[in-house]
Amino acid sequence: MSLTTGISLAYLIAAICFILALKGLSGPKTARAGNLLGAAGMALALAMTFATPGLSRFLLIVIAMIIGAVIGWPAARLVKMTAMPQMVAAFNGVGGASAALISLAEFIRGNPSHLAVYQVVEVLFGVIVGCVSFSGSAIAFAKLQELMTGRPVTYPGQQVLNGIVACATLGFALAVCVAPHTWPIVVIAALALVFGVAFVLPIGGADVPVLISLLNSFTGLAVAASGFVLHSVLLVVAGTLVGASGTLLTRMMSSAMGRSLPNILFSAFGSVVTATGSTGELGDRSVRSGSAEDIAVLLAYSQKVVVVPGYGLAVAQAQHVARELAELLEERGIEVTYAIHPVAGRMPGHMNVLLAEANVPYDQLKEMDEANPGFQTADVALVVGANDVVNPAAKNSPGSPIYGMPVLAVDEAKSIVFLKRSMRPGFAGIDNELLFDPKTTLLFGDAKESLTKLVGAVKQL
Ligand code: TAP
Repeated sequence: MSLTTGISLAYLIAAICFILALKGLSGPKTARAGNLLGAAGMALALAMTFATPGLSRFLLIVIAMIIGAVIGWPAARLVKMTAMPQMVAAFNGVGGASAALISLAEFIRGNPSHLAVYQVVEVLFGVIVGCVSFSGSAIAFAKLQELMTGRPVTYPGQQVLNGIVACATLGFALAVCVAPHTWPIVVIAALALVFGVAFVLPIGGADVPVLISLLNSFTGLAVAASGFVLHSVLLVVAGTLVGASGTLLTRMMSSAMGRSLPNILFSAFGSVVTATGSTGELGDRSVRSGSAEDIAVLLAYSQKVVVVPGYGLAVAQAQHVARELAELLEERGIEVTYAIHPVAGRMPGHMNVLLAEANVPYDQLKEMDEANPGFQTADVALVVGANDVVNPAAKNSPGSPIYGMPVLAVDEAKSIVFLKRSMRPGFAGIDNELLFDPKTTLLFGDAKESLTKLVGAVKQL
């Protein structure tokens, strides 16, 4: 077998590793192995690249790899779980930029006038999509990192202006297809960068995780395009996998939020709902708040407790003490499970990651479809920093912004306990009738402090 055939075979094995890695990442039990398999595939692909005959500029490649590792390794190790979305945005952005630069470099390096139209289209696709992904991800990062306002940035004529930039980009792209020259492609890259910024500005900070997933799929497609340009089957496969999985994730996230993708991208959601939503005032309606001791009694004399974690659990970093409380209850013979809504928190799998970090056994985590029938027989639904994902308005109020979003059937439990700091609403900015339900008790305060009090009170019983 020749060296070239061996390298091709190794690339094929690497591609299979990527596919199996994605399969592994689809479940919490296999995710770690999936991740390792993906990393092994990437290591193999890198080794084969270095083994490729005729590889030049070896030193430059190694220097680039060292710079990447010096930045990437500590960033990935030190990042807090709540800052994960912005890290993904940053890494995704550089991926898009790399794909665009590779396509651009290949175009400039050869003789553009000798390229066939399909080759020019491959280059253009990589440059445009990669640049949009880079500048869009940069703005997404700035929003999530609070380097700029997280609110939707809107101004009169915004969509028209965006349309003009998009049309100008496509116009120049057509011109390059007809007469391939270098300068228009640089203009195209600049316009695509402007479009990426303009596209992301009107999207509210809390919708940004969905946007990042979409930008991630753009980067995948740009990488696939640069794979065509470089005649690299592995890049085509890897890019297509990222593109397809990013698209699927975007679809799943928007449907779990009960909203269409155009609504997320073009409705400036964050600004509208806070204006028309809850005032955060109680008005003349009353709610029942209880002490940690009262709620500890309720929990300790139950048979079945379902914990419903939400964004507030992440904010309070209360996952460890939540597990401690659950273990105390289990020691008393109480059945404890966790009901996980697909978009609880602010990023995909947010609750799974937090609870896995606290070593909560996987078999106690119930996804929404599995968890919902269990609420009818639950004595207590303990809602820890969740709001929208348990709001019955999604089922009962056709005018509500979250109407149609599938929610956890917490209202069917015999008693409901909410741990939150105030009567303020959640992400969607709308009141939750469940807080006023006669079977609901509220324990006001930071979730970690409230859970710590509950742990202490249960131990006293
Ligand atoms: P939310 O509806 O945002 O509610 C979070 C609740 O946590 C609030 O009621 C807040 O009330 C409470 N809270 C905040 N900090 C707290 C703390 N330190 N201690 C105790 N409570 C605290 O969260 P959810 O139910 O998880 O729903 C998620 C929402 O985010 C959905 O609308 C979803 O569509 C949206 N979203 C999700 C994603 C993904 S992928 N997960 C992406 C974008 C948007 P207080 O302020 O009164 O404490």
